[in-house]
Amino acid sequence: MPKFYVTTPIYYVNAKPHLGGAYTTIAADVLARFHRMKGEEVFFLTGTDEHGVKVAESAKKQGKSPIEWCNENAAKYKLVWDQLQITYDNFIRTTNPNHEKAAAKAIQTFYDKGLIYKGVYSGLYCVDCERYYTQKELIDGKCPFHQKELVTLSEDCYFFKLSTFQKPLLKLIDSGIWVIEPTERKNEVLGFLKTEKLEDLAISRARVEWGIPIPWNKSQTIYVWIEALLNYLTGIGWDGQFKDIKSNAANYKQKNLKSKVYGSKLSFWPPDIQLIGKDILRFHAVIWPALLLALEMPLPKKLFVHGFFTVAGQKMSKSLGNVIDPEEMIKIFGSDATRYLLISAFPFGQDGDISMAKFYERYNSDLANGIGNLVARVLALATKVKSLEYRIQNLEFEKVVKKVWENYERAMEKLAFEEAIREILDFVTFYDRHLNETEPWNLVKTNLGKFQKVIYNLLEGLRHLAWLIQPLMPETGDKILMQLGILEVEKKRNLEQAQKYGGTEFRKIKKEEILFPRI
Ligand code: MSP
Repeated sequence: MPKFYVTTPIYYVNAKPHLGGAYTTIAADVLARFHRMKGEEVFFLTGTDEHGVKVAESAKKQGKSPIEWCNENAAKYKLVWDQLQITYDNFIRTTNPNHEKAAAKAIQTFYDKGLIYKGVYSGLYCVDCERYYTQKELIDGKCPFHQKELVTLSEDCYFFKLSTFQKPLLKLIDSGIWVIEPTERKNEVLGFLKTEKLEDLAISRARVEWGIPIPWNKSQTIYVWIEALLNYLTGIGWDGQFKDIKSNAANYKQKNLKSKVYGSKLSFWPPDIQLIGKDILRFHAVIWPALLLALEMPLPKKLFVHGFFTVAGQKMSKSLGNVIDPEEMIKIFGSDATRYLLISAFPFGQDGDISMAKFYERYNSDLANGIGNLVARVLALATKVKSLEYRIQNLEFEKVVKKVWENYERAMEKLAFEEAIREILDFVTFYDRHLNETEPWNLVKTNLGKFQKVIYNLLEGLRHLAWLIQPLMPETGDKILMQLGILEVEKKRNLEQAQKYGGTEFRKIKKEEILFPRI
């Protein structure tokens, strides 16, 4: 059985689940469900990023220990992901002892291989916060909390020889052996690797206590980004053993690389698709592959970088008061529609704009008046007659359905979710038109034979519709099949069987609740 491994970034445990994270996670879930539907063995990893100064600081403010604070917030993520029907196979937390042990072992491996040396880190330090800030975090060049000048401070720390990976990385990306999509993002990384000299990376901190200790010098902890990236390995159960995963990556010929990772979950390595937002591209396109090359591990197959959304033209931020909360959205639109509205808002991989007004509009047009209305109309007509003649197939419909499936699958494979959605909506329009043209509400009185044929093909259309929307709107897909009276039968079918046109008997149709009440 083909395997499919998909990952999202792990989210900062300090923050509440936000819409940006929900966006990445829903997209990953759509992919995971699509590949499961195709009969593949899927592993879907997500989780929380739990170490670092900020977490410790917030915990302190709350009068809690860091781990209490992490437990509380990780649970919040899980809750929202459950509400959004996210079917992750593992929720990795970087405070998990296995992750901590494996990350420490990986750092030890770099050290043993001579890829780490001692140096001096200097940065801008706020004495009151007792932490370093990056230039980007400052407000008017001052500490964002104390509005005070920062001091330049230096400390001993360990450096990872990132610079030695510049050439191999360039080659891997340029040759397309390691895929970064969309092309603009690939070019962005290439541009950077071609014009800037890669600096070695400080991978430990002396003043950060809430972290994983450096194995040979416990007064230091591992820089949080480094161990966070390793979650993609520890999340499938990697325990950090170098010998277990040692593979013949020496000449960086990733193409011919067979992962020697073993074990039930470890055999998922490498990831098929890693989804990230564009803000964390450099970490994932430069540091992450360098760590893997250092570990002599096969690289992920594809890094897919999605865009950012603004809210009605502005950056979503607390100070602007335009934050859209995923839980709020679920309350208004329900879980399926929230998934739909976020994913259909703009082409995946590009930047876009969202707003509540647009969500309402789209909900009503695509879901209430589109999919929901078609299902309700067809079911109401189908229940007009006592017994329904079935298997009266229409060849033209068969062709349409086949084409829709082809286009849909092609779109999903390339993560063009908006194209897949377009296919579905066109399909709905096609059936709506057919319904209006044939006027089955008249046929039922004048020509029962033709009525039967029209209705059968409409019902068969709904069955396909239910399958097509399943990855995006799982609950609605099931509700349609349930109303068609075929949920159990269909659940036993594989995709190939489901895609065949006709042959299904609709003997237990029951019109129930409205799928998407108008808002
Ligand atoms: N903890 C790091 C990732 C470590 S992965 C080894 C992190 N976490 S995060 O919680 O800040 O962000 C996670 C994801 O949310 C990123 O993919 C980011 O791009 C996405 N988004 C955050 N705001 C967003 C928008 N406004 N629009 C779209 N996605 C955005 O970074």
